[in-house]
Amino acid sequence: MNNDIVLQMLHISKTFPGVVALDNVDFQLRKGEVHILLGENGAGKSTLVKILSGAYQKTSGEIYFNKINTEIKDPKHAQHLGVGIIYQELNLVSHLSAGENIFLGREPGNKLGIIDYKKLFGESQKLIDDLKVDIDTCRLVKDLGVAQQQMVEVAKALSLNAQILIMDEPTSALTDQEIKELFATIRCLKSKGVSIIYISHRLEELFEIGDRVTVLRDGKYVGTHNIQDVTKSELINMMVNRELKEQFPKQTVKIDDEILRLEEVTNQHLHKINLSLHRGEIL
Ligand SMILES: Nc1ncnc2c1ncn2[C@@H]1O[C@H](COP(=O)(O)OP(=O)(O)OP(=O)(O)O)[C@@H](O)[C@H]1O
Ligand SMILES: [Mg+2]
Repeated sequence: MNNDIVLQMLHISKTFPGVVALDNVDFQLRKGEVHILLGENGAGKSTLVKILSGAYQKTSGEIYFNKINTEIKDPKHAQHLGVGIIYQELNLVSHLSAGENIFLGREPGNKLGIIDYKKLFGESQKLIDDLKVDIDTCRLVKDLGVAQQQMVEVAKALSLNAQILIMDEPTSALTDQEIKELFATIRCLKSKGVSIIYISHRLEELFEIGDRVTVLRDGKYVGTHNIQDVTKSELINMMVNRELKEQFPKQTVKIDDEILRLEEVTNQHLHKINLSLHRGEIL
C-alpha cells in the first residue's frame, strides 16, 4: 500500500432539522486501503458516506478528490468522480439477470437500440470472474443469495470505474462463510488499487480486514489509527467514552400521566388483556 491520498474530507458538518448529524468531521482515505468507519448507532457514519455518494449535501466543509477541491452535486456526479456505494438495502432489479443489472441503463447495443446480449453477458461475466466469485451472470437476481447480490453490486460499481467503494454494514445479512468470501473480494479490490470505506460495528471484523480506523461519536470526529496500533478496548472507549459496565445507564424518570389503557381487550387471539402506558415510559 502506498500513501497516496485519494480523498480528504475536512470540517464536514451536516444538519437536519433539529439534528446535528455531523459536526466538524475530518476523514482521509489512501489509495488501496480499507478504512473502517466506526461508531455507535446514530454516530453519523451513514450520513458521512451519503455526502460522499451525493445522496446528501453537506451543510459545510470541504471535500478534495486527488487534492482537487470538489463540490459533489448529486449521485451521478459522485459516480463520475469514481465513488461507488453498496447500500445495506441492495438496489438491484430482482426480475432481471445479474448481467442486465450490471449494465442497467447503459446496455451495449447497436445504433437501433437493440441490446447486444452476447456482449452484455460476456463483459459482465468478465467483471464477476475478475472478482474471483462464482456467479453465472445470466441468472436472475431474485435467484441469487444476498452475498451474491452484493457481488453483483460490486461488479456494477467497478464497471463504472469506482476508485472508492463504500460498504455500509455489508456483513449484517451474511453467514460466516459469505463474510469470508466478501473479505476475499475486498482483498482482491485492494490489490487493484481500489480504496474501500467499510462501515461496521462488529469489532472482530475490522481487525481482520481493516488498515485504518476512524471513530465517530455523536456526530463528532474522535480519531484515526492504524489498526495494528489499537486494541479492542481502546476502540470501545473511543466509541462510547464511558465505562462499559454502564453502557446502558439506567435513568430514573418521573412517571407521567397515563396516555393509553387497555381493559379486558378480547378477540379470537386475545383474552382479557389489560395494560396501562404512561407518558415517557418504556413498557
Ligand atoms: N434524513 C435524515 N433526517 C433527519 N435526521 C437524520 C437523517 N439521516 C440521519 N439522521 C440523524 O443523523 C444522526 C446520524 O445518523 P446516521 O444514520 O448517520 O448514523 P449511523 O452512524 O449510520 O448509525 P447506524 O449505526 O444506526 O447506522 C442520527 O441522529 C440520525 O437520526
Ligand atoms: Mg448507518
